[in-house]
Amino acid sequence: RGASAAANAVEVAEEANAETVARLRGMFSLPADRLQQIVKQILVDMKKGLEKDGAANIKMLPTHVTRRPSGKEKGTYLALDLGGTNFRVCEIILDGAGGSTMHQSKFVIDEAAKTGDGTALFDFIADCVKAFLGEYHKDQDVEAVKWKLGFTFSFPVDQWTINSGSLLIWTKGFTATNVVGKDVVALLKSAFERKNLNIDVTALVNDTTGTLMSLAYSKPDTYVGVILGTGSNCAYVEKIENVIKYKGPREGVKEMLINMEWGGFDDDMVVIPRNKYDLKLDRESANPGSYTFEQLISGMYLGEIVRLVLVDLVKTGELFSYSAGGSPELRTKYAFETAYMSRIERDYSYQLMETKTILEEHLNIPETTLADRKLVKAICEMVGLRSARLAAAGVAAVVTKINKLGAPGVTVGIDGSLFLLYPHYQNRMRDALREIVGISAENILLEKSQDGSGTGAALIACLAGK
Ligand code: GLC
Repeated sequence: RGASAAANAVEVAEEANAETVARLRGMFSLPADRLQQIVKQILVDMKKGLEKDGAANIKMLPTHVTRRPSGKEKGTYLALDLGGTNFRVCEIILDGAGGSTMHQSKFVIDEAAKTGDGTALFDFIADCVKAFLGEYHKDQDVEAVKWKLGFTFSFPVDQWTINSGSLLIWTKGFTATNVVGKDVVALLKSAFERKNLNIDVTALVNDTTGTLMSLAYSKPDTYVGVILGTGSNCAYVEKIENVIKYKGPREGVKEMLINMEWGGFDDDMVVIPRNKYDLKLDRESANPGSYTFEQLISGMYLGEIVRLVLVDLVKTGELFSYSAGGSPELRTKYAFETAYMSRIERDYSYQLMETKTILEEHLNIPETTLADRKLVKAICEMVGLRSARLAAAGVAAVVTKINKLGAPGVTVGIDGSLFLLYPHYQNRMRDALREIVGISAENILLEKSQDGSGTGAALIACLAGK
């Protein structure tokens, strides 16, 4: 009797979970018709954004990149990459035949550099460059060489020229003071001067633009670059006559890459359904009301959405009932990493043992049942799936905007940890694309484009020098 009562209790728990799961699904799911509505709205915003600054939630920033690479670009360049989890310094050699080699160093950006005074952030960057040159060019008089550099600064920038522009607003948790509104290349140059570095910053680049260019170097059919990593954004090739707000020279210019900053899409929250967890995440973010589309998609936030759901279910008694209260770790903001979601979604073991490790060891929850773990896995799935479907809606809109829907082999270069590492992410995007645009989805090639912020920045620096 004891045993059957226990079995019964488990069954009851699983049933309760089924109800919980159904309720949550209602909050996170995005059926095809809703995705289509989202695509329509993105298209409306793209058009408005190209007409006038501030006219739409999507900023649609002209990048001043007016040519895609021919594959013949050649030379040695430095590139910096600021805007992801790590800061990178790279040296890239473009071989003139669509190929390149590079070496790089990664540096962890500490919270102080991210959120302190801007000068400290740029000094940190210059110190890293100095360390890099010291390591790879030991025998050279580093100060005597005139280096050329592409600066990948992956934040919204009002770009004045190919190598100048001011930061519009920080995203992704950066808050360093005295940078918004300033020319970030000028800030970088003065830091280089303070450290006696003789470096010519020839291009200021967004990671999406770099991603597009780096794949286009070997695949000329690349018209779109997307980042699905810490943040999310897209750049694409637009006809210059459609970039109405662009005030620079137009002579001989046919096209321009546009940095959409799609992270800000639907910030007025009219088309995408938001649940209480999304709203709480936004309220408690560094910039409430800003980049709320990115919050639903990118790696910086997905784990936190899951955590907010878990905390709530602990309160209602639907989860971890043997560990009432969960754990202090579970109650710590951003303690549930998106990388955990990856591991949980990849956990196909019978008892969900990997999930158990994460919950009980990393998050210190004293005891979890199989039903608990199944519920956690289902939640990760809902949040991860919604992200992939929204990203697909973005891609569908852009491919439609450039009239490439149905064109054979239009290539979208994609970089970022979600696309590269998160289980099922790519297939979920492809499925959603198919639901949104039908059979034409087969012509849209979603391809990995690694290292846009290095190679792509070098290419743009090279083209800018011509
Ligand atoms: C954020 C930035 C954007 C960048 C994206 C991906 O959305 O604002 O510029 O491209 O993250 O890194």
